[in-house]
Amino acid sequence: PSSGLADRRGRALKDLRISVTDHCNFRCVYCMPKEIFGRDYVFMERDELLSFDEIERLARSAVALGVDKLRITGGEPLLRRGIEDLIERLAALRTPDGRKPDLALTTNGSALRVKAEALKAAGLDRVTVSVDSLSEERFQAINDVRFPLARVLDGIEAASEAGLGPVKVNAVVKRGVNDDEIVPLAEHFRGTGITLRFIEYMDVGSSNGWRLDDVVPSAEIVRTISAVHPLEPAAEARYGETARRWRYADGAGEIGVISSVTGAFCGTCTRARISADGKLYTCLFANHGFDLRALLRDGADDDAVTAALTGVWETRDDRYSELRAANAAPDRDRIEMSYIGG
Ligand code: GTP
Ligand code: 5AD
Ligand code: SF4
Ligand code: SF4
Repeated sequence: PSSGLADRRGRALKDLRISVTDHCNFRCVYCMPKEIFGRDYVFMERDELLSFDEIERLARSAVALGVDKLRITGGEPLLRRGIEDLIERLAALRTPDGRKPDLALTTNGSALRVKAEALKAAGLDRVTVSVDSLSEERFQAINDVRFPLARVLDGIEAASEAGLGPVKVNAVVKRGVNDDEIVPLAEHFRGTGITLRFIEYMDVGSSNGWRLDDVVPSAEIVRTISAVHPLEPAAEARYGETARRWRYADGAGEIGVISSVTGAFCGTCTRARISADGKLYTCLFANHGFDLRALLRDGADDDAVTAALTGVWETRDDRYSELRAANAAPDRDRIEMSYIGG
């Protein structure tokens, strides 16, 4: 039976986001700026990473406790060697009432043409790909490694063809960088069956130099698109999902907006995160995680793992985005996006 696990604000644990590497082949200026993630940056060593056995054990415990959605993140998760094997193991998990958990992966899309078929065959349900610009020049300036946009768009096509969908596309909007592409992005994906989600630029980590002025509020995004292609609100598909859905009035599909800055959604946040080195975080903006790897490598049995997950979740009180909105956010170091996986 579903355990009824609840945190101090009555929120259930339903989603687990698992980071499998802190490496990435991109250096997106807002996530892994080269000045910080350069030659001298110390990434995790191989033996620091959770093994697939360790990840599988943690995921199994979480699913037994009520988690019914697993998302693989990074860094760039497709860089982790043998990722298909991990997918296969996670795809075999079952919730207490016998269902397969929703199994998704967030990627920069660079390896999708090569990997899509194998990921699908391993049991992955869907992928979300980041595309912040449709201008080749600007896209390459954002990823800062001159990775061609055309290859990412081709990767999205490969994912759709392989049945890893419906594919979602994430676009982080930053004022003065790509806010002139809101309508072009919407028009590119309108009518394709792909759901484009616009994300308010967030103050994750401490290295992206975030300023409130950089944020383009979701309300403005919806207004801008709606002026050209009228939108109407659509119902949420899953309790507590990050995106608000909007449907094109003419039936050409839907878009989403993720308003972590102007419309905090902490009240319904059912998400926990595990970093690639095995720390459990109960908020994207946390600065301290519980060391599950130490527990596992000390020989903990399944009951001890379950007890640890339960204990951490039951004391959870996080609501960073709400506090930021109230100007009451704690001023402290935060973990980086590439470490926690978004
Ligand atoms: P779906 O399962 O398709 O709804 O995906 P998702 O929105 O949960 O995950 P995705 O990896 O696509 O993340 C989209 C954006 O939402 C990213 O910028 C994430 O950092 C952000 N995000 C995801 N979960 C949270 C959260 O709990 N809090 C905040 N503030 N942002 C989040
Ligand atoms: N604010 C909002 N979204 C971000 N992402 C990375 N950094 C930020 C940020 N500062 C996005 C990526 C990816 C998702 C997991 O998080 O573009 O789509
Ligand atoms: Fe890599 Fe994604 Fe961060 Fe870009 S946003 S540097 S693709 S992890
Ligand atoms: Fe959840 Fe923290 Fe995001 Fe709020 S800021 S929605 S508590 S992860």
